[in-house]
Amino acid sequence: MPRKTILNIIEAKNTKKLSMITAYDATSARIAEKAGVDMILVGDSLGMTMQGNNDTNSVSLDEMIYHIKIVAKNAPNTFIVADMPFMSYEVSKEQALENAGRIFRETGARSVKMEGGKNILPQIKALTGAGIPVMGHLGLTPQRSAMLGGFKAQARTAKGAKELLEEAIILQEAGCFALVLEAVPYTVAEIITQKLQIPTISCGAGKYCDGQVLVFHDMLGLSDFTPRFVKVYANLAEQATQAIKTYIQEVEHTQFPEEKHCFTMPQEEWEKFLQEIKTNDNN
Ligand code: KIV
Repeated sequence: MPRKTILNIIEAKNTKKLSMITAYDATSARIAEKAGVDMILVGDSLGMTMQGNNDTNSVSLDEMIYHIKIVAKNAPNTFIVADMPFMSYEVSKEQALENAGRIFRETGARSVKMEGGKNILPQIKALTGAGIPVMGHLGLTPQRSAMLGGFKAQARTAKGAKELLEEAIILQEAGCFALVLEAVPYTVAEIITQKLQIPTISCGAGKYCDGQVLVFHDMLGLSDFTPRFVKVYANLAEQATQAIKTYIQEVEHTQFPEEKHCFTMPQEEWEKFLQEIKTNDNN
């Protein structure tokens, strides 16, 4: 099966709700593809989930490229979106082109995601003009959490909601093929979804968006903290901790390994070996 393209994503608007999940390594990529998600996001959330940092801002382009390459290789049929990390595109359109170009050339991902609206318009236009599909990201933009005063819901005033709608339309006009709306009122997200021709992907923006995205570690119960808008579908951290505790007990009580976990050798080889060490001991 060939890898899905942006056409599959754009065509889904009004026909099918899209599912997107983050992945960062071979294991998460294989699981996501096997489950059949429409899109995998190699998010800069890896700064938190994989590197254990408090925010996403310390992730470098080289680190992103390392993870994107692994995910693209291990989910060969899924459409991959790759986050442009903090300060890899803000400086200029030339910087954005060069760095998105590296992601394209070096990883196998066929789209990038950038956080921001009017402030990064030249960058978005430069990328789409060069043939690099861009997914926009508005609302709570974690790379700007310092300016936003933390990870807070956005567009909760009439003025904020109007500005968000305007920016969404601007991003669509600049050529974005889809738009993540993070932590905004679902009513505002619904209006934006109705007004846009491109799919909106909700990250805490309600069910009226054209699709949903969740962080792998959050939805599987592998994170220490999960935002209010996340549904936790499994408690893998709890299960893993319990499994490792059982392993420790079994090691301490010589219950592991059992015979089926051990290798043997042919009886005559064993006897020969015993004979040899006996002879050596006698010399
Ligand atoms: O980095 C990320 O995982 C994201 C999603 C939460 C949308 O940007």
